Amino acid sequence: MMRARAPVWRWSGTWLATLLAGCAGPHHMLDSSGPQAAAIERLWWLMAVACTLVFLAVMVALAGAFARRQRAADTEEAPPLSLARSYRVIAASLVATAVVLFVFLGASIATDRKLFALEAKPARLIRVTGKQWWWSVRYEDAQPGNVFETANEIRIPVGQPVQLELKSDDVIHSLWVPSLHGKKDLIPGRDNRLWLQADRPGEFEGQCAEFCGHQHAHMRLLIVAEEPEKFETWLQRQRAPASEPQTDGQKRGRDVFLQQSCLMCHTVRGTIAGSRAGPDLTHLATRRTLGAASLRNSRENLASWILRPQALKPGAKMPDQDLTADELEALLDYLTNLQ
Ligand code: CUA
Repeated sequence: MMRARAPVWRWSGTWLATLLAGCAGPHHMLDSSGPQAAAIERLWWLMAVACTLVFLAVMVALAGAFARRQRAADTEEAPPLSLARSYRVIAASLVATAVVLFVFLGASIATDRKLFALEAKPARLIRVTGKQWWWSVRYEDAQPGNVFETANEIRIPVGQPVQLELKSDDVIHSLWVPSLHGKKDLIPGRDNRLWLQADRPGEFEGQCAEFCGHQHAHMRLLIVAEEPEKFETWLQRQRAPASEPQTDGQKRGRDVFLQQSCLMCHTVRGTIAGSRAGPDLTHLATRRTLGAASLRNSRENLASWILRPQALKPGAKMPDQDLTADELEALLDYLTNLQ
């Protein structure tokens, strides 16, 4: 008997450990790092606690009813039937249900107000366009010369609201950064807006949350929140054109970039490469990830990505590249210098 039960307990222990392990870290709604996510988290806890209490109350009432039945069967007496008592129980249940539903309604309206409270404040505008399967990120500015694009990484200043304008170029995507906010869809032909704010510096993982094709699972992004001064420095650097190659290897790498198919899809500001089919690479070396946050940005990963993107992310628009070892090394010298 005991031997048959042990695996069940072991499984439930494993399940519990797995579930709890998911409740922390930079990609979890129960680890909120901004006012919007905090409001969602509070609502979640209220509903979880209330539903658990209701469930336990129903189970206790059910167990009590079974126990009375059992006692009646043991003593071979018919259970006493009281209509008045049944009505009282039903009325109490109806009142309790209505109270719980009204509490949920009030809490949900209060949460909604918190989610949109930032709308009234001035916020930096960042346009995010969903593409199969990456994110184009454009920092708007009153001065056209200050507008620039990057990809798959959104930097924001800590403690300041930002407004994300969400668009899509192809199918419906959905932006979800659980530590900062709920989900918002990117719909072709319609602009959606999302206001968010990070209360502490850090790296927050996001994920496309609407199935959008083959590489939906690899359509991820990073939100990096930095202290305002650090963010301002980053902003100035991103506005500048790409750094000029210094060494012979970097110069040869730029030639490879401009003579091979790279310039057909990518932009490097300050060169003749200006296509918008793929991510803007002007400051690629300052980004923390590659392939829409599917790989950390390192020289080795960049080499694998350039040579065999179809092995890492089958179906992505970037084709495998046929480069000699020398060409690849030079190209890596050039790209890893795009600070
Ligand atoms: Cu984009 Cu799923």
